[in-house]
Amino acid sequence: MPDAVDAVETPTPRRKPKPAKREINGRPLSPATLMMGHGFDPVLSEGSLKPPIFLTSTFAFESAAAGKRHFEGITGLREGGAEGLVYSRFNGPNQEILEDRLAVWDGAEDALTFSSGMTAICILMMAYASQNDVIVHSGPLYAASEGFVAKVLNRFGVSYVDFPAGATREELDAVLAKAKAQAAERGGKVAMIYLESPANPTNALVDVEAVQAARDAALPECPIAIDNTFLGPLWSRPLDHGADIVAYSLTKYVGGHSDLVAGSIAGAKKWIAPVRALRNTMGGIVDPNTAWMLLRSLETVELRMQRAGENAAKVCAFLRDHPKVEGLGYLGFISDARQQDIYDRHCLGAGSTFSVFIKGGEAECFRFLDNLTIAKLAVSLGGTETLASHPASMTHLSVPQARKDLLGITDNLVRISVGIEDAGDLIADFAQALDAV
Ligand SMILES: Cc1ncc(COP(=O)(O)O)c(C=O)c1O
Repeated sequence: MPDAVDAVETPTPRRKPKPAKREINGRPLSPATLMMGHGFDPVLSEGSLKPPIFLTSTFAFESAAAGKRHFEGITGLREGGAEGLVYSRFNGPNQEILEDRLAVWDGAEDALTFSSGMTAICILMMAYASQNDVIVHSGPLYAASEGFVAKVLNRFGVSYVDFPAGATREELDAVLAKAKAQAAERGGKVAMIYLESPANPTNALVDVEAVQAARDAALPECPIAIDNTFLGPLWSRPLDHGADIVAYSLTKYVGGHSDLVAGSIAGAKKWIAPVRALRNTMGGIVDPNTAWMLLRSLETVELRMQRAGENAAKVCAFLRDHPKVEGLGYLGFISDARQQDIYDRHCLGAGSTFSVFIKGGEAECFRFLDNLTIAKLAVSLGGTETLASHPASMTHLSVPQARKDLLGITDNLVRISVGIEDAGDLIADFAQALDAV
């Protein structure tokens, strides 16, 4: 399709349903309420209460003149852009509704969906970084994000400067000065400050407010993006604390049932526009069926996350005092004053993904894992079911020992994502599995 469309220069604007009610008598409606209807007008679909799944690769023009008018809009010959949908690589009805609803959660002007969290992150970075540019990022990042910056973008002349998650304003000032100097030396710019908080797998928090202050002082034009997969959208709202773009693996809490893979970004239109343009060119948008499943997931995301968070608090209170447990990496029990201060300013809940350090090493952890009966042994997180894994021998097996030591990924660490089962049942299961250690 549309050879005549310069998708990079003329991103496709979005068709809107009838304006939805966002408030009643001055009372703004909460995201939980808006998830049932926002962005979808049944009149557009034969009165169907729920949006149908739109399986189509292209959209019919009403007439030749309407087609001409449309292309005049997207090629810039006429003011106002495109009217309606054109082609499914750019967007579709299910994805548009999903994007409208995702934007609600983060208080964002605009959102985009992708076929995975990594597609979202890679297209986001590619949209902003050019040859000789520098990306500044917090560390650690999810391994694939870190690898994309260090190994893939590096092949296109993009370098990086990283800093530890808990860095202070003074440390951030020094990091940005170093990045600016590196960019100037190479003839590029600092393209993006990319954060992940809490970091996977350490749960270390980034002081987004301090990053914003340092950015405003040193690099006012540079966007701050943040991966909010672990605490979003319920327990952390980074756009309220100075981030410009928020990124998600929707595969985790938002999808929430361990049955799909998808990603998203959200932020102000001016930050989202270049990413939309690149997505228009490359594809990578979530498919209609997965978008529909995510709409269903969004109707219960608040309930699921609340229950998972409450369960995690009860399970962690049990594990903390257990004689076979050496310690916990849980945001509800932070021991470091700096991390606690960041938590108090940025977080609305401790989440349900944490680390438990079993007394002993790999053998003891394996006995614990092999004796769990409710929790499933699997990577990923944020699903309705409780998952457990052993990062040192699984997800982080290929990480060099020195880096593992630095990140605290020890042989006695078990990673747990608590689901929405009965908390008493989960505690009984963890208790009997620890007895077997
Ligand atoms: C923090 C974080 N960001 C991004 C991703 C990548 O998401 P996806 O698997 O949907 O591509 C993951 C996956 O585990 C993650 O944990």
